[in-house]
Amino acid sequence: MPVDPFLPLAYLTRMAIRPIITLPDEKILRQVSKPVKSVDEGVRAVFDDMLETMYKAPGIGLAAVQIGVPQRLIVLDVAREGEEKRPLFLANPEVIWTSEEFGEYEEGCLSIPDFYEMVQRPRDVKVRFLDRLGEPHEMAASGLLATCLQHEIDHLNGILFIDRISKLKRDRVVKKFQKAQKLGKL
Ligand code: NI
Repeated sequence: MPVDPFLPLAYLTRMAIRPIITLPDEKILRQVSKPVKSVDEGVRAVFDDMLETMYKAPGIGLAAVQIGVPQRLIVLDVAREGEEKRPLFLANPEVIWTSEEFGEYEEGCLSIPDFYEMVQRPRDVKVRFLDRLGEPHEMAASGLLATCLQHEIDHLNGILFIDRISKLKRDRVVKKFQKAQKLGKL
């Protein structure tokens, strides 16, 4: 089993930017994604499109359902600007442990543009997943990576980060997007 699940960009072949589904279009975003049977060429093609779409946005995490593919696939890269890119591909990720301690980050989401809010989540997690080559991994994460993993795994279960903030704030942001759509601004 490879120790380091991060993959150099040189591995990637063809990529395309796909449209990201945003609020108020919740129909697809609320779907529970299905596990992939294996990580084959088709899955790798979706992974690579997801990565390019995420970098272009730009964002630090993207779930396949956000580009309309309800499969349990996630891409992440929490490297800071100016740092070398360190993409992580996760198929069928599962949280297998969470710490009792919580951490708090200001979260955003490519499906909810220009909205940020503090969210509390377990500070440390362990996740099990298959990488871009279908190899199994168990990885411990903390800080921003732990938050990002939990945010993206939520997407696979049809959960958005606004579900983890107050109802008042959630209703306000959902209404904002509904209104923008009505006015033809989306
Ligand atoms: Ni998101």
